[in-house]
Amino acid sequence: MFATIAGRYDLLNHLLSGNIDKRWRSLVAKSFFATLSNSEARILDVACGTGDLSLTLFESGQARIVGIDFCRPMLAIAMSKANRSDAIIPFVEGDALDLPFADCSFEAATIAFGLRNLTSVETGFKELLRVLKPGGKVAVLEFSKPTTPILRSLFRIYFTKVLPLFGGWISGSKSAYEYLPDSVKRFPDQETLADMMKTAGFAKVSYQNLTGGIAALHIGTRPG
Ligand SMILES: C[S@@+](CC[C@H](N)C(=O)[O-])C[C@H]1O[C@@H](n2cnc3c(N)ncnc32)[C@H](O)[C@@H]1O
Repeated sequence: MFATIAGRYDLLNHLLSGNIDKRWRSLVAKSFFATLSNSEARILDVACGTGDLSLTLFESGQARIVGIDFCRPMLAIAMSKANRSDAIIPFVEGDALDLPFADCSFEAATIAFGLRNLTSVETGFKELLRVLKPGGKVAVLEFSKPTTPILRSLFRIYFTKVLPLFGGWISGSKSAYEYLPDSVKRFPDQETLADMMKTAGFAKVSYQNLTGGIAALHIGTRPG
């Protein structure tokens, strides 16, 4: 599915979100300010797609960034964007459910709009935890549950009616933009996701609602 829409993915992201997605990714970088300031640190961007978050992280500090995704056409776009901005980011083709990295390899990890797409969120968390160094942080950016009933209704109408129409028309894949609201509907809300992170073994789990809870940024730490 992601291979089909790769060429139009960035355009649609920015267009359909009114560019808010860029602000959300910058907030992830802000929350990793200390790690990003360390030139020795390594940050893994899981399900990096076309590399927008990897690039934002790269441009926000000195840490070394690695992106991983299992969709080659998405990675090809990430690589050409990195080349254009002279960013040195290795983009690796691999599975978030079986990360090709040794235990305790990274100071931090991110996953933006990727967790919802994994066939097992639990295995995704297990792998993130495994590759983080003790004390390392994970940031999960995902669509979530808007906090007010009005926003929830508007969000539902936009996501189920407007988005499949324009997304399908521009990308040529209506099913991909029907899958999006379906997957968001099935995905746990803020509190449930925080509980799942704690159950998976993350400590100091907290979250921040973004744009009235349309998205949420969860942060957790590998204990030790
Ligand atoms: C909605 S895109 C998000 C891309 C990017 N992180 C962003 O913020 O725009 C979801 C990405 O997850 C990737 N993905 C889904 N399941 C995966 C898995 N098991 N392993 C690696 N990547 C996966 C897809 O290929 C796709 O690029």
